[in-house]
Amino acid sequence: MARAPDFDLARELAKPSFTPSVRDADALAELVASGHEQAPAVLAKLGAAARAAIDARLATADEAGRARLVGALGRLGDAAPVIGWLGDPSPRVRRTAALALGKLGGDAARGALVTRWDAGDVTVEERRALAEALGKAGGADAVARLRALDPGGDAELARRRDRAVLMAERDAQRTERSHIAIDVPPPAPLTVRLHTKPGLGVLLAEELAARGFAPAPCGEGAVELALDRAWSALHASRLWAAAGIRVPLASPDAEEIVRALASPAVRALLAAWTRGPIRWRLDFPSGHRRAVVWRVARDVAAAAPELVNDPVHTTWDVIVDEEGRGALELRPRQVADPRFAWRVADIPAASQPSVAAALAFLGGAHDGDRVWDPFVGAAGELIERARLGPARSFAGNDLSDAALAAARANLDAAGVIASLARADARTYAPGPIDLIITNPPLGSRVQVDAAAVLTEALPHFVAQLAPRGRLVWITPAPRRTTPVAERAGLRLARALPVDLGGVRGQLERWDRI
Ligand SMILES: C[S@@+](CC[C@H](N)C(=O)[O-])C[C@H]1O[C@@H](n2cnc3c(N)ncnc32)[C@H](O)[C@@H]1O
Repeated sequence: MARAPDFDLARELAKPSFTPSVRDADALAELVASGHEQAPAVLAKLGAAARAAIDARLATADEAGRARLVGALGRLGDAAPVIGWLGDPSPRVRRTAALALGKLGGDAARGALVTRWDAGDVTVEERRALAEALGKAGGADAVARLRALDPGGDAELARRRDRAVLMAERDAQRTERSHIAIDVPPPAPLTVRLHTKPGLGVLLAEELAARGFAPAPCGEGAVELALDRAWSALHASRLWAAAGIRVPLASPDAEEIVRALASPAVRALLAAWTRGPIRWRLDFPSGHRRAVVWRVARDVAAAAPELVNDPVHTTWDVIVDEEGRGALELRPRQVADPRFAWRVADIPAASQPSVAAALAFLGGAHDGDRVWDPFVGAAGELIERARLGPARSFAGNDLSDAALAAARANLDAAGVIASLARADARTYAPGPIDLIITNPPLGSRVQVDAAAVLTEALPHFVAQLAPRGRLVWITPAPRRTTPVAERAGLRLARALPVDLGGVRGQLERWDRI
């Protein structure tokens, strides 16, 4: 395709849509040599043509140009042409080659880096680059050399060596999978914090008490309890969404975090509950703290070598709660949670299963219940009601075919028999009903007046309810829906304001008078 007379390759590179052609290869190599920021990534798209253009330009490039071109060569995915540049007379070129080889990895790159590491003429800057590259390339030879390195007074080299050792050791263990053993009691009783949506903590506490635990409320959306049984004991409760083991800190700084993580009690717990390597990652909810994270990772590795810091394939998330004196919350990651295994299909508006469970808990379960969800979505509420005990029948309807397909898949996975219909909640009449349980549209996703739909639907719902029937739902606008419910003949039994993450609503239970 012909290009406009004023076509300017250097300017075009800034456009994400620009696609280079083979005829641009030499000009792109020239731009790489002169230090154009985007040129290396664009040139790399040309494969063999890029290689030829870089080789040709390297023949005459000065030191800075050579270093940049070698970096670009490293982007082509093949270590072989880069390896020779580790012997370039210029330390700058050798450094770029080392860093490129570290990223490329593989046996050839690793072998070349180790050979260069052992040479007698490695400069200070080059040693730093080699340490970083060996950490990325990994392997036993690399770790042995990094460990044996005495950085002398070079703090930057010591820092890069420490990170490199952590990375190489972490990668060495990645081939082995790990998971949490949920059926083993802890070595000593633990304090566990269970989290739910803000506003639902009180309901979670009631549910846990009903299951034999002694929970203490902890803010709006959490409770704490003592656990001396296996983690799977917590699955008796369906209202929590996340859970972690609390480890108090004397103060939320790096030294204290290291001390707590490497303490005998935490090490014993992690050893007892982890199968495979114990991988962990540190997380500050208040934002990234790269320097602290690296420091903690380095010092924990020294104090407790079996704990492998691995931000990507973690088995345990270690969340730093900086409130007050601070605490660590150890959250199992690779852990089976059979409670919501029924969830095989999803829709964007689906309720979080623990919220569906909260609705079911508030509605209660009577043996003869005829249960109806008029905004059934993916059927979370019907299934969670079924989990509480037998019912006479389950019915659901929705306007969306995708929702009904998801509902059918989930109900089948849960083993719940229900009738489903494509119908409007405001008119569908499934027959006499004892429990209406629903998380209706709240108006957050689509621009509809959700409260208007609900106030219109309410009298129709009440008309379906048998004497002493119950309605449990979340309303986005209690001030508008409450008078309508009362006029229709319902009495409010319980109301809990809840924050559903961006949407506020009220979880309510109404009883038919
Ligand atoms: C918040 S979602 C329900 C979520 C459901 N509890 C779940 O777990 O998937 C609301 C559902 O109401 C449906 N809907 C909206 N307006 C409706 C109406 N007038 N009649 C019936 N369903 C409706 C939407 O298609 C959506 O699936």
